[in-house]
Parts: sequence; structure tokens; C-alpha cells
Amino acid sequence: TEPEKILMSGKEYKTDYMTNITPRILSYVGRNLHLQKYHPLNHIQQVIINYMYSRYISPRGNPLFSVHNQLHPVVSMQENFDSLLVPKDHVSRKKSDNYYVNEKYLLRAHTSAHQCGMIKMGFDNFLVVGDVYRRDEIDASHYPVFHQMEGVRLCTRKEIFGQHQNMDDFSLFENVERSEKRQGVHNQTAVDVLEFDLKQCLEGLAMTLFGKDVEKRWVDAYFPFTHPSWELELRLNDEWVELLGCGIIEQEILVNSSAGEKVGWAFGLGLERWAMKFYDIPDIRLFWSNDSGFLSQFHFEDSSTRVSYKTISQYPQCANDISFWLPSDGYESADFYDLVRSIGGNMVEQVRLIDTFTHPKKNLTSHCYRIVYRHMEYTLTQEEVNNVHKQIEEKASEILKVVIR
Ligand code: PHE
Repeated sequence: TEPEKILMSGKEYKTDYMTNITPRILSYVGRNLHLQKYHPLNHIQQVIINYMYSRYISPRGNPLFSVHNQLHPVVSMQENFDSLLVPKDHVSRKKSDNYYVNEKYLLRAHTSAHQCGMIKMGFDNFLVVGDVYRRDEIDASHYPVFHQMEGVRLCTRKEIFGQHQNMDDFSLFENVERSEKRQGVHNQTAVDVLEFDLKQCLEGLAMTLFGKDVEKRWVDAYFPFTHPSWELELRLNDEWVELLGCGIIEQEILVNSSAGEKVGWAFGLGLERWAMKFYDIPDIRLFWSNDSGFLSQFHFEDSSTRVSYKTISQYPQCANDISFWLPSDGYESADFYDLVRSIGGNMVEQVRLIDTFTHPKKNLTSHCYRIVYRHMEYTLTQEEVNNVHKQIEEKASEILKVVIR
């Protein structure tokens, strides 16, 4: 049975039918890896902040951007979705994709949840850094908690057109049809100026970290809160890697946040993804390691130091399959992944659905998952693995109502 209240950072939350935060997930709230001195996520955050500080400087010589990296991770549905114009029936709202505290609150799924609040408070140029939570698949690059940085920049008409002699002839706004290239309310030249600034900024960031010769490409993307939108991909180790999403902020959001006279851009990036590429870290679980073998490699004062992570040793993998019949309704793979995480913890490296079979006569479906066990810090014994695997079988039948084959 569920507890009636959840305690997070000194605040109590009532639980209800939407609650799906597990005790394990709760244990990550407040860890704040990005604030931990010498942690690679702290270094990479600092490198990006320093870049933004040096790129945007006020006429008086101060950095334009402010940094907010201690905002509480529990946000309302309004902040995470509605304020960002995410449609009511959008897939990203699904219970199987998010960690809900209750029907009103969830653990933020992205740092964009803070955009409106920050703009309403009057910030025009800001970075938000924090832990975000998503119910995802399990492999070397996915973890239910990771860290994002959000960047938002708003500009006045003067900032956009200031360099023109006849600036009074230009307006940020007009009323035309929305197209692939712009929102209906935006003047194309204003959007071009913003797009240029945004892309220069992010390409500059990529070059600062990965060298000026790094290959880049912009890919058209879709987000409910920006239009047009793009993703930046970099070619790293012979592979195109998506490193961030960005775009021109939907004007409706600015109007709703009392900044309707300005226009702006936003970007969001995952710190783990950048750090894994910057330091050659092979597995996302390592960020959560308290092992000195991991942390000691990042013990330097100058955050811009680029080291290559050296794997301490490679422990053997152990794969074990589990097959079960699904209940007639209400089963989601995400529930199984959470259960495996809760029981297996960091012993589990991957879970893959390897086979789906539907019995033609009985109209029953079965799933077969391969669970790959491997700890990053020590060699697992066969007994340990068997024990956990058995617990997963038992809990799956008990909680998810599946029938082990
Ligand atoms: N919030 C988006 C995500 O998590 C990233 C994003 C931020 C895209 C800001 C556009 C603008 O995927």
C-alpha cells in the first residue's frame, strides 16, 4: 500500500491515484550532483556557464546571464506542460513517461518548466540547471534522473534592430500567416536576427568544448514551446550525436508571462550527454558512483580541464531472460523497468524487450526481456544475480500481475 504523504526537501505532498514515485526515485531528490564540487557534471556546468558569461556582456562589463541551479524539482502540471503550450492530450504527459507526485505535481521532466516563472520574475537572460526525471528505457545512456541546462534570452526591439540607422522603420511584430520559417506574429527579419544569434551562440559552445573543427549540423525539430525549432548534432567518434534542442520562443508564452513586447530564444541540453562525450565516460550510471576510482579522476580546480576517463576495470556481464504473460489490460513496459530499477539498482546495465508473442487462440500476449547484469564497481557473483533475478520475477507477478512462463 502507498504511503499517504511523500516528504521531499522538507515539504509534504499528498499522494493520490497519480502517484508513481518509487522510494528509489525519492532517494535521488536532493542529491544535486551538479552542485557537488569536482563532480564531472559540476565541471561541465561551469564550463558552459563561463562560456555564456564571456559571450554576453552588458555595456558595463558584467555578464548578462544569471544562473539558477537550486530551483526545487517538484513543479506543477501547469509549469511542466500548460505554461509551455503542451497540448492536453500530448504523449509527453503520460503517466508512463513521468514521475507524478500526485495529480497536480510531478518531478520536472525538463528545465523548461521554469521558463515562465523566471520570465514573470523579470529575468531576460538566464540559465536554469537542475535534475530532471523521466521514466525511460534502461541502457548505458539512459537513467531515470539526469541533469539539464536551460538557456533563455529575450530581446527588445532596440536590441534586435539597434545597429540600424533607421531603426524606427523596423518592428518585431506583424500579422501574417504562420509558416515553417516563423510564427504568424513575428517579423521575419527579427526572427532571422534571433536565429543567427542563437545558432552562433550554440555553435560557439560546441567549438569551445569539442574544438573549432568539430563537424556540426542543424536538424529541424518540433517542440510545443518554440517555433521554429532545431536540434544541434555534432559528429563525435564517427557518429552524429544530438546534443541539444532549441528554438524561437512561442510569442504566446511571452505574452502570458508579461514579456509580450520582447522576442526570444531558448535552448535545453542534457549535461550527462555533454559530459559523456567530453570526458569519454562510457556509462551514465557512473555519475552516481561514490567510488573514488571514478570521482578522483575529476579532482581538478580548473573546470576547463579536459581529461579522458580511464575505465578502472571491466567487470563481466551476466544476462538473464525473463518471460511472462501480460495481464489483459493496464500493463506498461515502463512499470517493469521501474520495478527492475527498484530491485536491481545499479547492478542492472540494460533491459531489452527481445520477444513479443501473442497466443492466437487464447489471445494472450507474452513479453520476454533480457536483463543484463553488470556492476560498474565490482564483479557480481552468480548467486547475487540469481537472487535479484528471482526477486524481480516474484515482484513482477505480485505487483504487475504478470504470469511468469
Ligand atoms: N525541453 C526540451 C527537452 O527537454 C529542450 C528544449 C528546451 C527545446 C528549450 C527547445 C527549447 O527536450
